[in-house]
Amino acid sequence: MRVIICENYEEMSKQAAKLVISQVTLKPESILGLATGSTPIGMYDKLIEANKAGEVDFSKVTTFNLDEYYPLSADNDQSYHYFMNEHLFSKTNIPFERTHVPDGEAANPEKECEEYDKKIEAAGGIDLQILGIGQNGHIGFNEPDKNLIAGTHLTELTDSTIEANSRFFEKKEDVPTKALTMGIASILKSKKIIIMANGAAKHEVVSALMTPDITTDIPATMLKIHSDVVVICDKEAFYGKQN
Ligand code: F6R
Repeated sequence: MRVIICENYEEMSKQAAKLVISQVTLKPESILGLATGSTPIGMYDKLIEANKAGEVDFSKVTTFNLDEYYPLSADNDQSYHYFMNEHLFSKTNIPFERTHVPDGEAANPEKECEEYDKKIEAAGGIDLQILGIGQNGHIGFNEPDKNLIAGTHLTELTDSTIEANSRFFEKKEDVPTKALTMGIASILKSKKIIIMANGAAKHEVVSALMTPDITTDIPATMLKIHSDVVVICDKEAFYGKQN
């Protein structure tokens, strides 16, 4: 695991965007794995700027998002479909038909999950996966548990995740309690992984990434198995609260 410690959120966003731009420049038909949440928004802004300035062309990329709330319709403004359109897809030349987000309205979620993994495989696998990290160590919505699940699946969100994500909703009761998420193996099959974290609230979990331990209680520690992971974080996430 390589670690890039940045001065602040702005720097972190720039560094991550640089790596995505390099990836797409070297392989224009890259398969990108994307995340939602507050962490990657700055990076998406940089990618939009670079795309507008002609510094990167996304016209040949394919994208697969990590997760979606269930049940939730794509046009709900809290859905991850909506988030991605708002923060990236509609503002770049990524072909909309080559973007994929699990269907939060699938009548048969198990089938949807199975097909999602098949689509990733058929596309040739993810070249570069972007991850955020939950305060409880989740990646995608792979929550701490005795057993983690390999493939894309329907999962129950933990109370701490519902609490953390309630900031995006009017009230906590509005946060869906389930989600469709890529599994740990779906994530680990990516050729390269960037995991981003900012702010003191992520310090404890980022510290867990720096130890030799792997535990399903902190799903992100599974990334230590992978040979090409870059942690890009700000000083607060790495060192804790700065004075
Ligand atoms: C979102 C996702 C989640 C977030 C995590 C951190 O697609 O997969 O694992 O990355 O909950 O969220 P933020 O960035 O809001 O702190």
